[in-house]
Order: sequence, then C-alpha cells, then structure tokens
Amino acid sequence: MNRPDDKAVIYLDHAATSWPKPEAVLEAMTRSMQEEAANPGRGAHRMAVSAGRVLMRTRMSLGRLFGVSNPNDIAFMPNTTAALNQAIKGLLLPGDHVVATMIEHNSVRRPLEYMRRRHGVQVDYVQADESGTIDTAELSSLCRANTRLIVCNHSSNLLGSILPVADIAQIARSHGAYLLVDAAQSAGTMEIDVERLGIDLLAFPGHKGLLGPQGTGGLYIRPAIDLTPLMHGGTGSQSEEAEQPSVRPDRYEAGTPNTVGIAGLGAGVRHVLEEGAAVIGRREWELTQLLMEQLSSVDGLNLLGPKLGEPRTGIVSFTLDGMDAAEIAFRLDRHYGIAVRAGYHCTPLAHRTAGTTAGGAVRSSVGYDTTRAETEALTEAMREIARSV
Ligand code: ALA
Repeated sequence: MNRPDDKAVIYLDHAATSWPKPEAVLEAMTRSMQEEAANPGRGAHRMAVSAGRVLMRTRMSLGRLFGVSNPNDIAFMPNTTAALNQAIKGLLLPGDHVVATMIEHNSVRRPLEYMRRRHGVQVDYVQADESGTIDTAELSSLCRANTRLIVCNHSSNLLGSILPVADIAQIARSHGAYLLVDAAQSAGTMEIDVERLGIDLLAFPGHKGLLGPQGTGGLYIRPAIDLTPLMHGGTGSQSEEAEQPSVRPDRYEAGTPNTVGIAGLGAGVRHVLEEGAAVIGRREWELTQLLMEQLSSVDGLNLLGPKLGEPRTGIVSFTLDGMDAAEIAFRLDRHYGIAVRAGYHCTPLAHRTAGTTAGGAVRSSVGYDTTRAETEALTEAMREIARSV
C-alpha cells in the first residue's frame, strides 16, 4: 500500500499526543534553549527576565484561548493528570461528596478512589449510555447536601462523545458544588470559555490539541477557590516566608518550571488562536465522519461512540469481530505504518460503558494536519485485515 503524502508514518494517535508539531513550536523551543532558558523568576539578570516573559506570554495566550481575564489564575502543570490531582486533592475534605461519570479516565478515577480510601470522600459515578452520553437529570439526582464537586471530561478519550458542560455547570451551581472539567480531548479543538460555560476548574494538556510538547499542561482555578497546593517549595517569591505564597500562580508552581516546553506550548496555543479552535474542531469532525462512513463498509467492524452526524471530537474507536484489538494495532503498525492506540486507553470505566471490557478496542484519532488520504489508508488496511480473520 502506498503511504499518502510521503509521510513516514500515518499518525492517527492524536488523542494520546499530537504529532507532528507545527514548525513554530520547534522554533520557539530551539530559540528558548539557545537564547533565554535561564531560570524564570529566580534572578534579575536579563536572561532570567526574558525566560519569565516567555512564561507570561504563554499564560496570556492561554488566558485568551480559555476566556480567563487574569492569566495568573492559570497554573502550569506537567500534564493533565497533575492538574486533576491538584484540583481533586487540593479541594476535597473528609466527608465531601463527588459526582463523576462512568466514562472518566483513570486520571480522574484514581485520585477520586484514593480520596475515598484514604480521606473518607464519597464518590458516585453517573451512568453513561453506550455512545458516551449521560442523563443530566440523573446526574443532578445524585447530588446531595455535601456534594462539593462534580468532575467530568469534556470529551471521552475512548468514545469521542461530548458532555454538556454548560448544563452540568448549572447543576453544580444549583447544588453549591464546583465543576472540574478534564479538557484532555477538547482543549484546542473546541471553544472553551470558562466564564460562559461556568467552569470552576479546568485541567488541560499542552501536548494534545494545544500542539505543545509533552511535559506541559495547566490548571485554571477560579479566583474564589483556594486549593491547598500539592507541591511546596521554591517559587522565587516571598523567599523569607516558611509558608507557600498565597499569590498566584506561584502558589501552585513550586520548583523550576519547564521553560523550554512552555515556550513551545505558547507557540502551539498561538497556532490554535490563529486558526481558531472551532475551525480545527470542525475540520477534525468532518474527517471523523468520512472515516466512519469508510470504516462502516468493512465487514465485521463495529464503530463505537456517537452515531454518524452527531457531535464528537477527533476520536473514532472500533472493534473487529474475531480479532483482538492489540493484534489489529500491531498489524496496522508493522504492515501499514499506521499508528493507533489499542487496549483500554486508561479508561476501564468507559470500556465497561461501551461493552468492550473483553478485548478492548482500537482507537484512531485525527489531528490538525490529518488528511483524507490518511483516513482512507486506515480503511484500506482495515479491509485487508478483516479479510484475514
Ligand atoms: N490520555 C491519553 C490517551 O487517552 C494518553 O491516550
């Protein structure tokens, strides 16, 4: 099979991490490393000041993207998992109740289960249907007087379904609870305005839809919420104090940051701002529709998630009768040079919901630079693999 577009790899694993990155991201990281990667906020020499400016510029770009008026309400984190841990463990107290969903990633489920085991936090998970949507009335009915937090993903990392975040925010508010959104699969490809949607805490990765490098991400924290910091240490500010500073973002950013990575993230976010998250998302949606139409003609192939024509992010997961998901991903890689992710995708809850606990599923996911020729190549490969069953 000819590989389209002269690419060495047909990369359909953007939900795990986007690749390749825009040229501007590589340039920003090289420039940062060569010219200005001193320690930001620790020293008054010009390189340190310049590194500090890079952080501030990225924070401001993120503020613009997410509708955050004070960029200092965004703390850099090494990934979404760290952001979710900071939000969950920094907020919840013994006796608090949380409502999450049955399609959460382990980066939500595991911290919640830890808080249940070790700190007496109560947790309920609202059911989702097979396609990955929830009944908001059922979610509301799970809330109680001690519900302090609702946490949900914006889009399922297995099914690509999209949760009605604005409606969930209203439910949270009516119960006096906060809303934490895991934007791992939506940041950079869906419009997210924390004010308009009513999001109190937003955890996001830098290395997926925001097109930055791995090791970057962040957490937006509504000004009225004071999370207990998980990390204590040097911030370059109020050094004479034994206590972690209360000033943001220092309160949540102890230790030397990933300056080079954040420089790259800034370039990625600016790329998204120039294109428009909604425009990128629309293009990805059109590709998923095409891919779904093509794949549905393959004998024995079962598509997961929302039906054709319905909203979804760039994820198309499937199973094939008679063949294990891991075997399919192996063949796609070895024989066709196509990168996808198979197995349980760190979300056994969503697999239970989709009925794919037995063998897992194959997840393909498109990105900002995926072409139609690449989705066609996946279909062609799947047709050949299906014939061999
Ligand atoms: N959370 C990422 C995924 O779903 C890594 O693949």
